[in-house]
Amino acid sequence: MNTVLAVCPNPEVAYRPPAPEPLSAIASLLRVIARGERNLLSLLPAEAYTVKIGRLGWSRRGIVLVNDPAMVMDILKDPQHIFPKNDLMVSALEGLVGRSMFVSHGEVWKRQRRMIDPAFSHMRIDRSYASMFEATEDHVRDLKQSAAKREVLSLDKVMSRLTADIVCRAIFSTSLDQGVARSVFEDFLIFERSCASVDLGRLILGKPWESIPQPPAVAAACERIRSHIGVMLDERKERLETGPDDIAQALLMARDPETGEGFSREELIDQLGVFFLAGHETTASALTWAFYILSQHPHAAKRMRQEYESVVGEGELTLEKAKRLSYTRNVFRESMRLYPPITFIPRVALKDTTIGHYAVKRGNMIMIAPWSLHRHADLWSNPNHFDPDRFVNEEDKAHAVGAYIPFGLGPRVCVGAAFATLEATLILARLMNTFDFRVLDPDSVRPAARLTTRPEKEIEITLTELARKTA
Ligand code: HEM
Repeated sequence: MNTVLAVCPNPEVAYRPPAPEPLSAIASLLRVIARGERNLLSLLPAEAYTVKIGRLGWSRRGIVLVNDPAMVMDILKDPQHIFPKNDLMVSALEGLVGRSMFVSHGEVWKRQRRMIDPAFSHMRIDRSYASMFEATEDHVRDLKQSAAKREVLSLDKVMSRLTADIVCRAIFSTSLDQGVARSVFEDFLIFERSCASVDLGRLILGKPWESIPQPPAVAAACERIRSHIGVMLDERKERLETGPDDIAQALLMARDPETGEGFSREELIDQLGVFFLAGHETTASALTWAFYILSQHPHAAKRMRQEYESVVGEGELTLEKAKRLSYTRNVFRESMRLYPPITFIPRVALKDTTIGHYAVKRGNMIMIAPWSLHRHADLWSNPNHFDPDRFVNEEDKAHAVGAYIPFGLGPRVCVGAAFATLEATLILARLMNTFDFRVLDPDSVRPAARLTTRPEKEIEITLTELARKTA
């Protein structure tokens, strides 16, 4: 069934943000070679946006791209346990997060989730809003100073720092500027920039289950991050009885209900590393794109400010009010449709099998690509245009199951989805209502698939504080 989702954008307000022009398979390959690119998005041929399922070019492991919502649901729900997380992604991340819940599968994953699930209550939005709000206000204060000095800032770094601060407060009840937390963040930046998760050479020439060594700078950054997290953990262990009630505390206290055992120190570092990485890098990617789009799309920026004015006015942006900022939330959703932070959700086939009627072989990479699914010609009207109103209609939202998957789907769906949506709504609303964002070179912005979907080069901006004062 083809379900074209949602309304056509009004031509007066239609905005088409940057994406590689889809070309034939050969032309895409030549483009990548000619530019010396390492960007998988540029390699995606035009068919990637129209097929339901098919082989993606030539590769040693065999890559099968799946764009059909029903097939996507079957694979991600995986009732027969034959499509675990892809080995290439697992080996790219394991230096940092070991065998944590993000990369484990089967019984190991089940045990981890049994133990960790109580910690997720700390991500409940009513519990976490106050500290998200405080962190955002601290950053608004700093950004006002940068605006006054006309400083040129990296939009990517501003967003990474703010989201890392928010997740750091949720995990350790400490701000990013305190102690070793700052070093963790700086090493995460090195990891993000050079992690070999989407290395085209490995993707095309590597054999299934062949492990990939990380570049030495990344391996060293992983070691440092793990050691810093270990220091924070040991410090917390010493005051377990009196420490704050946060994610670190909940993981230290976690016990397997079947065996009564807790996590070892290494396991705790794995899991905390995942919370830190998955909990800030993705949201930072989504916000970077959302603010870039808003800087180029005055109509959307104006509607957001009008919504803020009518819902929040001069008062404080409370949780109740944040929940009512529906246009702002839809700006976030639509930004993640066009630039899904997790560009690809790869799996591996553990045995020869079929997907629909399509035969796949053991070791094939099963590539579920939010990037192509979210821009698929059969699923979305004007797929490359930015139109937050396509999320207004409840019926369309229901159709979108399996077609709109920024947070994944099935048992491995993101545990931080509600947290991230609230956090992003708060940040978008507060910052857009305080500053005007000017991008210095908007035409040079191009997306690239790295650890998350990021601009190829950092986006340089200046901020101007808006005359109208609110909270
Ligand atoms: C916009 C923000 C976010 C996006 C787009 C996002 C996306 C995703 C996706 C696509 C997955 C599934 C990956 C797969 O199936 O292979 C996932 C899993 C996960 N996410 Fe998120 N995420 C976001 C924010 C967060 C936050 C804020 C946290 C925690 C503080 C978090 C923690 C996790 C964890 C722990 C998993 C693994 C769950 C499991 O496998 O048991 N994420 N995320």
